[in-house]
Amino acid sequence: MQEQNNQSLESSHTSGVYAKRDLTIVRGQGATLWDAQGRAYIDCVGGQGTANIGHAHPVVAAAIAKQAQILISCPEMFYNPQRAALLARLTALAPRRMSRAFLTNSGTEAVEAAFKFARYSTKRKKIIAAMRGFHGRSMGALSATWNKKYRMPFMPLVPEFQHVPYNNLDKLAAVMDDEIAAVILEVVQGEGGVHLGTAEYLQGAQQLCRQHGALLIIDEVQTGFGRTGKFFALEHYGLQPDLLCVAKSIAGGFPMGAVLLGERVISLPPGIHGSTFGGNPLAAAAALAALDVLKKEELSQKAAELGQTLMAALQKIESPLIREVRGLGLMIGIEIKQKVTPYLKALTERGVLALPAGLTVIRLLPPLVISREQIDSVITALTEVLTQADG
Ligand SMILES: Cc1ncc(COP(=O)(O)O)c(C=O)c1O
Repeated sequence: MQEQNNQSLESSHTSGVYAKRDLTIVRGQGATLWDAQGRAYIDCVGGQGTANIGHAHPVVAAAIAKQAQILISCPEMFYNPQRAALLARLTALAPRRMSRAFLTNSGTEAVEAAFKFARYSTKRKKIIAAMRGFHGRSMGALSATWNKKYRMPFMPLVPEFQHVPYNNLDKLAAVMDDEIAAVILEVVQGEGGVHLGTAEYLQGAQQLCRQHGALLIIDEVQTGFGRTGKFFALEHYGLQPDLLCVAKSIAGGFPMGAVLLGERVISLPPGIHGSTFGGNPLAAAAALAALDVLKKEELSQKAAELGQTLMAALQKIESPLIREVRGLGLMIGIEIKQKVTPYLKALTERGVLALPAGLTVIRLLPPLVISREQIDSVITALTEVLTQADG
């Protein structure tokens, strides 16, 4: 009764832009979430990729509580020790020669800043993005996002953006010229259906950018912080982007993002960009704690190992429904021949929460702390759901 009241209260006052599930989540720990009735679920939504270190991690909870009693907000016009430590730590984890970063509060803001810095640095306007790419919902990031459903209601978007097919180097080469400011790519397209970029394509894109004086923006908002089995997914291919966008799991689920800046991004003058909340000490303290946990618990390695186990088991499921299972680390997509909504519902009934990626892909983004037993339960639930005709 209380739960129904809560749901109708939220429904009455929310914006309406989210498709809601009939589920009230009240608590989380590790890779487990609990609903209002106390029922436990294995969480393969993972806060849409924000919960790599698991829910309610005690190290992050303690860091947030401690910092909240010291200083929550402090604009970047002042120096702050938590921010300084985070900037140093983050840039040390990035590819070589990325020694500076601009701190944001979300992924879309990191992408937005990357476009501004790319245009400012190159004195060029054109941005090339990939079909099926997703980079966020603010007007600049949306201009690089592919899905028409997200874009069409908000036309006109920012001019001088063009989309080319992903994983097609010839098509990219055909549009490259000396007027391109930047090319933006995901290493694995998440929202677009869990499509892996090939080494040839990603390295070739980097080379084309260098050749034409354009900057390469790699968007690791979803793939960063251990998700794909490396700290950053670009490490799989030895990429050296000029701008690297991160967010989601950077601060253990606390809102934060960043764009890391390579040496080809020119020195940015004061006032060229900014953010009131960007780099606030509370988010910085949460991020420092989350980075400690990622390292101490060796979560990238864990994602690589468990990802292999999960992928191998899913590939063995014999079902005419399955078109393809693909993924990297613990970022996995199961493409089926039908719409995924009833299958996601059937999984929920079996105690597993999963995400869609487009209409026909079931996407799994579990916290990297998920246990081997929980992985086995996910395999059992998916096998049942995908091999039973009625889902
Ligand atoms: C690759 C990628 N870039 C950017 C974004 C936007 O991030 P946010 O929702 O934090 O604005 C997302 C969100 O899903 C994403 O997956």
